[in-house]
Amino acid sequence: MVDIINRIIKRGKVYVDESFNKETVGPLTVFIEGRKYYRFMDFFYITSPPHFLTTEDVVEVCNLRLDYFEKVVNLEFNRNVVLVMTNYLKENAININNYTSALDFGCGSGVSTTLLKQNIGISSLIGVDISEKAVQLAKNLKLEVELLTIDKHFPFKNDSFDFIFAIFVMHFNISFFSFNEIYRVLKPGGLFLYNYYNVESFNNQKFLHETGFIQQRIISNGELPRNHYVALCEKPKVDLF
Ligand SMILES: C[S@@+](CC[C@H](N)C(=O)[O-])C[C@H]1O[C@@H](n2cnc3c(N)ncnc32)[C@H](O)[C@@H]1O
Repeated sequence: MVDIINRIIKRGKVYVDESFNKETVGPLTVFIEGRKYYRFMDFFYITSPPHFLTTEDVVEVCNLRLDYFEKVVNLEFNRNVVLVMTNYLKENAININNYTSALDFGCGSGVSTTLLKQNIGISSLIGVDISEKAVQLAKNLKLEVELLTIDKHFPFKNDSFDFIFAIFVMHFNISFFSFNEIYRVLKPGGLFLYNYYNVESFNNQKFLHETGFIQQRIISNGELPRNHYVALCEKPKVDLF
């Protein structure tokens, strides 16, 4: 039995299991001072499952992820997810070429943005994120990134992008406003490609359909660990409503 209580330290609202030992990962949940905490990314204990966190709490957890990046992020897993996505596009002759413009929603420090750029020939790839810390780190990598403000319009015109990617973002609860923005800036016929794992937010599923996205296709099922899926959605070429 792992003695988790003696291994964790408090950082803001989150407890961090600073053993960072993959062989003895702590229990799925733990009670601390009468409150239930949920294990997340193996070494964090957060106040609710990720799909119930508030946006402010998501930013706090994601910033901690950046502080402990080397210890908590499995880059191999990251690479595999991006590969599943880009291979699917290539194998299905979904057109990605020098004229394509793409948006990386929730780009974080730019890890997946860089992988996407390496894997597919995309001329224009812009990242957006609500975390100032993440945006600064991505800018350090000389990536084109914009900071988003919660529930403020994205700084792009309607129908700007052919593709929108969201990598390790949609397991959080994304607001209906953000879904509408994703939909607004995507061109008619444009694709929204995202991954999720463990449990996808129920709201995300509902909002996806309410904004007008169609044809949600699960393109990877069982190939990746942790109940992991990649989903493809399309903005219809003509207005449906
Ligand atoms: C786990 S990180 C993944 C970062 C990056 N996509 C990657 O693959 O490394 C999730 C990122 O999504 C961002 N995020 C979460 N909710 C968001 C929202 N509603 N709008 C924009 N970014 C969001 C977080 O700030 C964080 O940087």
